[in-house]
Amino acid sequence: MNDWIARLLNDPDLRRMGHGQRLDDLNLGLGWLYYGLARVVRPTNVVVIGSFRGYVPILMGKALQDNLEKGTVYFIDPSLVDDFWKNPAAVEAHFARFDVRNIRHFLMTTQQFVQCDDYRALRSVDIVFVDGYHSAEQARFDFDAFRDRLSPSGMVLFHDSIGAKKSKIYGKENTYQYSVEAYLAELKKDASWQVLDLPFGQGLTLVRPVRNE
Ligand SMILES: C[S@@+](CC[C@H](N)C(=O)[O-])C[C@H]1O[C@@H](n2cnc3c(N)ncnc32)[C@H](O)[C@@H]1O
Repeated sequence: MNDWIARLLNDPDLRRMGHGQRLDDLNLGLGWLYYGLARVVRPTNVVVIGSFRGYVPILMGKALQDNLEKGTVYFIDPSLVDDFWKNPAAVEAHFARFDVRNIRHFLMTTQQFVQCDDYRALRSVDIVFVDGYHSAEQARFDFDAFRDRLSPSGMVLFHDSIGAKKSKIYGKENTYQYSVEAYLAELKKDASWQVLDLPFGQGLTLVRPVRNE
């Protein structure tokens, strides 16, 4: 187990982006939860929206491969930060470095993904990880795209969900302020959802439907 964790955490880019990772004690930070939840839920389908270098898709992919049930990670990212996700062969090779081979990458925004056949075919999702553009509007769009497709044990995780940090990741001229927290404040008022904030790294919020049956 430690081998692939060391390989992952030895990549400086995969230690970035606020998941509380640390190489010195091979600590995946919030990554333990991503991997652990995917082992517990045993998903058929996981959707990950947005990732800088693939930390979350890799951990989800690894967990699904380690489950007997297997499963697929749908990774949606239009590569708006740089060209990292633009070349399909390079993307496949990147995930293969970590022996992860169950990720389907969609070089598109969520807005574009919901127009495609793969979205129409994806009737049920077990875990949705929302980590794309961190505005309240985009968080709402991403949530709405999958909320009615959650499986009985399904859940949605929002990263960068606590605080209103300013980000220059899309260039200085496109500086913006995170407002995912504002959207989640709305969801917290809706009695049909359970919402739990975990204030570690840059924040993670778990959202599950309240089921009365
Ligand atoms: C930089 S990541 C956020 C960092 C993340 N916390 C991580 O661990 O890697 C945000 C990603 O969201 C993607 N993105 C931006 N707008 C999007 C949208 N509308 N739909 C899907 N992905 C989007 C960007 O291409 C970028 O790669």
